[in-house]
Amino acid sequence: GREWTEVGDLGAEKAGRTVLIRGAAQAIRPVSKKMAFLVLRQAMSTVQCVLVADARHVSPHMVKFATALSKESILDVEGVVSVPSQPIKGTTQQVEVQVRKLYCINRAIPNLPINIEDAARSEAEFAKAELTGEQLVRVGQDTRLNNRVLDLRTPANQAIFRIQCQVEHIFKQFLLSKDFVGIHTPKLISGSSEGGAAVFKLDYKGQPACLAQSPQLCKQMAICGGFGRVFEVGPVFRAEDSYTHRHLCEFVGLDVEMEIKEHYFEVCDIVDRLFVEMFDHLSKNCKRELEAINRQYPFEPLKYLPKTLRLTYEEGIQMLKEAGTEIEPMGDLNTESEKKLGWLVRQKYDTDFYILCRYPLAVRPFYTMPCYDDPAYTNSFDVFIRGEEIISGAQRIHTPELLAKRAEACGIDVKTISTYIDSFKYGAPPHGGFGVGLERVVMLFCALNNIRKTSMFPRDPQRLVP
Ligand code: 4AD
Repeated sequence: GREWTEVGDLGAEKAGRTVLIRGAAQAIRPVSKKMAFLVLRQAMSTVQCVLVADARHVSPHMVKFATALSKESILDVEGVVSVPSQPIKGTTQQVEVQVRKLYCINRAIPNLPINIEDAARSEAEFAKAELTGEQLVRVGQDTRLNNRVLDLRTPANQAIFRIQCQVEHIFKQFLLSKDFVGIHTPKLISGSSEGGAAVFKLDYKGQPACLAQSPQLCKQMAICGGFGRVFEVGPVFRAEDSYTHRHLCEFVGLDVEMEIKEHYFEVCDIVDRLFVEMFDHLSKNCKRELEAINRQYPFEPLKYLPKTLRLTYEEGIQMLKEAGTEIEPMGDLNTESEKKLGWLVRQKYDTDFYILCRYPLAVRPFYTMPCYDDPAYTNSFDVFIRGEEIISGAQRIHTPELLAKRAEACGIDVKTISTYIDSFKYGAPPHGGFGVGLERVVMLFCALNNIRKTSMFPRDPQRLVP
């Protein structure tokens, strides 16, 4: 009998068995009129299929049919698994399939805008080709994104979005185990939630409205509504003007908000346990995915400590100062100084993952709680991977008077957020939370150089399709 088998499950233990597999024709290599090789790909796995015209199963006509197929056509192959005498180069599976029957389920057009084998090459392959004089095609970022459905078929891309799914899964699983409730807040809201002008404005049945910059105000209102611990996974919209390697106009926000009993470090503790658990899980359970990414984009595994390092902002700028970089003490870190501090922290503490606490008031959003001992600072933090920000979080102001005062001081018209401020008039517990950018976590965990690689259909200031 024949059995449907996944390409990734083909191994030596199946030798001699007849299997039925479906995949895309990644490569078609005619050898002679009587022989051809097909490389069949399914998700992250590839296998070599061998057609040999013999009197019994395969006719020369069938070999001709196979070699005339267009790349990326979807094929069903029935054949017998065999173990070749020499290791097979260029496929993930170390067995071959001796083809008995071949069906083309759906043809791809002959001239594809991207060749998957070209799109899957690593820098090391290009370097090697340069030495041997071999001409290899480089596929640029825009060509990839313009033809994303083809680009997504590379093993590295297949792996990236599986990792992304696991990050989201661990986020939810961990928080559910700590009694958090998953919520959904509206993405159509009446005004800015983070302050600042970077919002997408729209007309809401005659009323001015915008796409939510974050679930910030609503997740806090859920706390006011009696939910002690909440999280949300949802789209976040930022009308970014700048075109950078780490900003998107739409990204996935992983948000948390929780009551705090004594100290905002309770929020940092959740960050610490959540991410240590996530990194452990990824390294242990996503080996195949990490290997696939490493083959195309080699990277050093993330260094993290069993208990996440916490530094204060003041300690951070002191470290930078000692290394020759002066930071305005009440100002913010720019991308470059964040990167440099990440490097200094790695040298000193042997970690790529740390929390920086107690930011100056002037650089945090209006809803951030000032420090009790010195209101020029705040009970807030950012979290960094490899010197780039993935999280910002804080304790929030839970008294309506101070909240209104801080909003005004930040130039926000209190009338536009009156329902939010009113929520704190009816008895609201001390609370805090944080927001994580999903695409950033995956990008930085895998040390990828561009956030567009970790967004399936990225939205940036220049891209609305596909
Ligand atoms: O730092 P942000 O703007 O903070 C907030 O939205 C707060 N409401 C969070 C909180 O609970 N206090 O955004 C949070 C995270 C950033 O650390 C970053 O990882 C990601 O969201 N992020 C972006 N990711 C992709 N593209 C962008 N334009 C991003 N802006 C922020």
